[in-house]
Amino acid sequence: MSAFKTVRGMRDFLPEEAKMMKYIEGKARKIAELYGYKEIITPVVESHELLAAKAGEEVRLRMYAFKDLGGRMIALRPEFTPSVARLVATTLRNEPRPFRLFCMGSLYRYDEPQQGRYREFWQSNFELMGSNKPEADAEIIMLTNSLMETVGLKNCVFKLGHVGVLRGILSKEKVDEKTENEVMQLMDKKQYDDALKLVEGAGVSGKCVATLRKLVELKGGRIFEIIEKMKKYVKSYEKAVDAAENLQEILKLVLESGCEIDMTVDAGFSRGLEYYTGMIFEAYVPELDIALGGGGRYDRLIELFGGEPTPAVGIAHGIGRIMMAMQRQKTLKTGEENRVMMIPVKSELKGEALKISQMLRDADIPVEVEVMGRKVTKALEDADRRKIKYAIIVGEKELNEGAVVIRNLMKREQSTVKIEKIIEKLESKS
Ligand code: HAM
Repeated sequence: MSAFKTVRGMRDFLPEEAKMMKYIEGKARKIAELYGYKEIITPVVESHELLAAKAGEEVRLRMYAFKDLGGRMIALRPEFTPSVARLVATTLRNEPRPFRLFCMGSLYRYDEPQQGRYREFWQSNFELMGSNKPEADAEIIMLTNSLMETVGLKNCVFKLGHVGVLRGILSKEKVDEKTENEVMQLMDKKQYDDALKLVEGAGVSGKCVATLRKLVELKGGRIFEIIEKMKKYVKSYEKAVDAAENLQEILKLVLESGCEIDMTVDAGFSRGLEYYTGMIFEAYVPELDIALGGGGRYDRLIELFGGEPTPAVGIAHGIGRIMMAMQRQKTLKTGEENRVMMIPVKSELKGEALKISQMLRDADIPVEVEVMGRKVTKALEDADRRKIKYAIIVGEKELNEGAVVIRNLMKREQSTVKIEKIIEKLESKS
């Protein structure tokens, strides 16, 4: 048989990266707890119809979709939002609002593999459902900023927009929904010329094309100036003006919260998923040109799934991309604390070595036992190579006096310590 490798687009995480992924997940879980989001676990497999309903062409075409043995058309989830919306439309439909729900897990998209883009990836996903108020949008932005800060990322920039501006214009111009969605997809891919051509082809007014042309060029960090201009450009489209005002209100709240977020507004910003109805945003760091997270407001999805009308806003953070950003910014020290290698000097002392190891683990100290039958010198070299801090050498002479030798491999010092004093000694970090 030829040597196996991972399937295209899939990857293994070796211990160091696996540890970083779990570290970020731990931080996201902590943020969920601090903001009051309850974790739910939904299936990796859902009905194709549910996942495809409002995914947008980009995601829809890239789903791992297939018939199961019972002939049902199913797919691996490309995102969490439809699953959470399904739950709120069904099982949770009569529960009191708002819902703050959190998910963590793997997602699947048949994307073209490239830097930071895989066919299996992980998200921490937050959904706030039941409120149409700007403070709900502000909360989603703020918790994303909290996550970026707690993992130690610096110079994070949030790009914001509002789909209500473009959709407000297109709907007043009576562009049909299918064309409107196509325009939004092209905008998402920054193919502005193609988007404008499509709009022109849909028989809109000259004023509409001119307005859109100005909007796609309107972006920058002076967020309130940009929004004022946006309002001026779209003044004859009432819904677009409302959308710009809504964005203004959200951003005002974010700033009033005292949260120091670097924000830019992009009037031509659109996202691939079709369900968005309001504010949309993505988070970036200067070292990478791909988004670390993205989300926004979607007020009609739950209703579309047969639930009560439930406005909602949410965000998904790409765990793998956050890890990449941390690697670029060198934010995580991977040094291990207080690990112990337990080395019995000879065979007859193995049982005693296992017993002391267990005592240390009971006190929450990580211990690895020498299992290769190596001599002490070789075992110490191995511990050193693997950056283990302490070696405990279990020798006959010391053991007769109820003691062991503890060697600090970093400082290259050692001392004889009574068994009942080992924990104290290790915790004193000397
Ligand atoms: P999304 O923008 O499709 O939004 O994905 C969110 C994040 O997942 C991206 O910013 C990126 O970090 C990560 N991601 C997406 N695709 C890949 C990939 N192929 N490889 C690696 N990472 C990837 C959503 O999924 C929406 N459900 C977010 C949302 C929640 N909107 C409202 N609520």
